[in-house]
Amino acid sequence: MEVTDELVKEVNDLRRRRKAIILSHYYQRPELQDIADFVGDSLELSRTAARTDAEVIVFCGVHFMAESAAILSPEKVVLLPDLRAGCPMADMAGADSLRSKKAELTNPFVVSYVNTTADVKAESDICCTSANAVRIIESVPRDKQILFVPDKNLGAYAARQTSRDLVLWPGFCCIHDELEPADVMDARRRHPGALVIVHPECRPEVTVLADKVASTSGMLRFVQESQAREFIVGTEEGLTYQMAKKCPGKKFHLLSSGLVCDTMKLITLSKVRDALKTLEPRITVHPGIRRRALQALEKMLAL
Ligand code: 13P
Ligand code: SF4
Repeated sequence: MEVTDELVKEVNDLRRRRKAIILSHYYQRPELQDIADFVGDSLELSRTAARTDAEVIVFCGVHFMAESAAILSPEKVVLLPDLRAGCPMADMAGADSLRSKKAELTNPFVVSYVNTTADVKAESDICCTSANAVRIIESVPRDKQILFVPDKNLGAYAARQTSRDLVLWPGFCCIHDELEPADVMDARRRHPGALVIVHPECRPEVTVLADKVASTSGMLRFVQESQAREFIVGTEEGLTYQMAKKCPGKKFHLLSSGLVCDTMKLITLSKVRDALKTLEPRITVHPGIRRRALQALEKMLAL
């Protein structure tokens, strides 16, 4: 459906009437980033969801993000406008297989990326995001064996930055993991002088070639503060919309043409309108799971 002034007005009226806040990740469609009360990376979105006094949270993002909001704010109505908006990486780790791995390693310290289901968070000692993974690993006592779930690439990056040995779960983001060193080399040839910035969900052989490795918010901050005028961006294309908006005089090139997360793009403005109208689909978490998952999330937010 087309984005019309009438649709924008409808969403704005409903947001007011429902005392709702609209949160958007940087990988969302431009019109959703524009209408959101807050746009951020996974860490900032969790913090905002935990603090808001709105009665309804509309999550423009994927399932694990809305679920984290429901864990942090159980008294609020949390809406995910399309339930099919999942994260394939989060689906690569299940609670049963995590329990088996924990038994095999005899009591490891489990650090789980927020890109996980509530069941997996409930089996974890602490959560992390791409913005704080290094700090979280550094906070774990050195005599503990760390099991990092589910992103092997973020885990490898954090291991390199902290000089720690981590046991890595074999998960990955199908968007970032597709990037190869040849893509970096080709892009540098096409845009000489541009700085290469990539997300830590990329493979180690790609992150070592980059000028900067950071979470989505970290990348956005970097392009705003840098003296450079041109950048090659190795993450989902939605972030370049925000970069161009914040830095109108600078140029941004995607590292490869395949950087689109299809499930992120399932959320549309008309679905946001429908969710605000019907207060569905809601995301809820079983109280027993929620209590344990909350501990892992709160430990992360406290750091
Ligand atoms: P961040 O915005 O936290 O860097 O996360 C990237 C991502 O892939 C979310 O699904
Ligand atoms: Fe999951 Fe990757 Fe999509 Fe993020 S970009 S939601 S990690 S598949």
